[in-house]
Amino acid sequence: MTAKHFLQLKDFSAGELGYLFDRTRWIKERFKRYEAYQPLRDRTLAMVFEKASTRTRVAFEAGMNQLGGIAINLNRGDTQLSRGEPIEDVARVISRMVDVVMIRTFEQSIIERFAAHSRVPVINGLTNEYHPCQILADIYTYVEHRGSIAGRTVAWVGDGNNVCNTWLEAAAILGFTVHVATPPGYEVNAQIGAACRGHYQTYADPMEACHGADLVTTDVWTSMGFEAENAARQRAFADWMVDADMMRQAKPDALFMHCLPAHRGEEVAAEVIDGPQSVVWDEAENRLHAQKALLEYLVCGRVNP
Ligand code: CP
Ligand code: NVA
Repeated sequence: MTAKHFLQLKDFSAGELGYLFDRTRWIKERFKRYEAYQPLRDRTLAMVFEKASTRTRVAFEAGMNQLGGIAINLNRGDTQLSRGEPIEDVARVISRMVDVVMIRTFEQSIIERFAAHSRVPVINGLTNEYHPCQILADIYTYVEHRGSIAGRTVAWVGDGNNVCNTWLEAAAILGFTVHVATPPGYEVNAQIGAACRGHYQTYADPMEACHGADLVTTDVWTSMGFEAENAARQRAFADWMVDADMMRQAKPDALFMHCLPAHRGEEVAAEVIDGPQSVVWDEAENRLHAQKALLEYLVCGRVNP
C-alpha cells in the first residue's frame, strides 16, 4: 500500500505544511469570492466517526461538496464495526470504493491498522493521541493573524492530551516553542514528549507558562473517551482556567485559541474566549479551508493553479 496518509502532523514536512497553508489561503479567498473550485468532481470521501463531532464533520462534508465531490458519513453504530468486523477488513473494503477516508476513533493504533490496509489516503480526524487537522487550522489561523509561527512561543494550559501532543509535533517541525503547564498526573506522554525534546518546556505554574507567550491555548479538561475520570479531573484542573489575569502574563498582542467545544467557567473564562484576543471563530472556520487544502493535496497531489 503506497497511499500517502495524514495520521500525525509529522507525516508532513515543513515544506508540505507550508504548501498546505498557501493552498488554504488560495482556497479560502476563492470561497469568499463565491467562485466555484471543484477539483474533486466524481471523488468520494468516507468519514468514520467513533466519537461525536460538530466541526470536523461539517468541515469535511461541506468541504468535500464544495470541491465537487461527495462525502459519506458512517457512525460506528451504523456499520459492521459495531458487530465486530475487523478494522483491517473494513479498510480493505471501503478503500476499494472511495478516494479518501477520514477516521475519528480511540487509540492511534486503530487508525494505523486501517491505513496499513487502505489503498487510498487516510486522514486522522482525531484519536486519543493526536488531532492533526486541528493544528493545521490553528497554525494557519496564527499565520493569518500574525505571520510565521517560527521562533514564537505557544503556551499550552491544561491537559497533556491529543491537541497538546499535536502542538508539540508542530513545534518540532516548524521551529517554535511550546510552554506546557499541566496539573500533576496529566503531563504529556513521556514517549511523545521525548520525540519533541528541545521544542517544549514544562511549567508547574500556568501563569509562568504564559509569561511572554505569543499565543495562549487550552482545551477541555475531559476529552472524549475519558468521561469516567470527569469528577477527578474537575478537582485536579480547578486552578487551571485561562482567565484575564493569565492572559496578562502573555505578550500584549497575544492571541487566544481553543479547538472547541469550550466550557466557559472551566478551562476558559468567558471574558477571554469572548474577548478581543480570542480568535476561536476564525480557528473553527479555518477547519473548512485547511481541510479542503488537505483533501486536494491527498487526492490530487501538488497543483499549479
Ligand atoms: N475541534 C473539533 O475537532 O471539534 P469537533 O469535535 O466538533 O469536530
Ligand atoms: N481533546 C478533545 C478535543 C475535542 C475536539 C477531545 O479529544 O475530546
